[in-house]
Amino acid sequence: MGDHYFSATPTAASRPGSVRLHTSGVDLELATDAGVFSGSRIDRGTKVLLDSAPMPPVRGPLLDVGCGYGPIALTVASRRRRLPVWAVDVNERALGLTRSNAEAAGLGNVTACRPDEVPADVTFAGIYSNPPIRSGKGTLHELMLRWLPRMAPGGRAYLVVAKNLGSDSLHRWLEDEQGYPTTRLLSEKGYRVLEVAPREA
Ligand SMILES: C[S@@+](CC[C@H](N)C(=O)[O-])C[C@H]1O[C@@H](n2cnc3c(N)ncnc32)[C@H](O)[C@@H]1O
Repeated sequence: MGDHYFSATPTAASRPGSVRLHTSGVDLELATDAGVFSGSRIDRGTKVLLDSAPMPPVRGPLLDVGCGYGPIALTVASRRRRLPVWAVDVNERALGLTRSNAEAAGLGNVTACRPDEVPADVTFAGIYSNPPIRSGKGTLHELMLRWLPRMAPGGRAYLVVAKNLGSDSLHRWLEDEQGYPTTRLLSEKGYRVLEVAPREA
């Protein structure tokens, strides 16, 4: 069995590299490594999300679910330097890279940690994610049900999912089965960006 990017502790030998991320108003050089998601280039879905997802309509902490080496967390942290940005992942190597990338970029507003280290009383104005679709529907749904209820009133979640990996079925599940008002913001290059609002009370 090969090593997976979502292992908690990747066994792949370290192969440090770097990628350049350029998206409106943000230019970052990010350190990467073997054993983390899309370590040799910025994932196309991630780029589609960063080029299209707005800031949420209300102000408050932001969250990147499944941060990898940090392209999404660091972009939103650069765009909103005064807001706390939480970056969670289960892959320790990815978390280490997000921490050092945030430090190198002077982004003291980023906290990279395991999901269970986020204090229970923090709610999020904005949740951004290129979620771990390949971990399976069960994991994906668990992740959604763990973090979407933590959206602040008026908050939004922005998710990017490849069309051929089930973006439409995720959309239906969120909206029809879970009651989260969900809008397709964009369909581009084989990816869909979904905007999810809190459940109506
Ligand atoms: C598709 S990758 C996206 C990585 C990064 N955000 C990017 O855009 O390059 C999904 C990430 O989710 C992480 N992941 C898998 N299961 C998770 C879980 N239960 N909680 C948080 N992150 C998880 C993986 O380790 C991986 O880094």
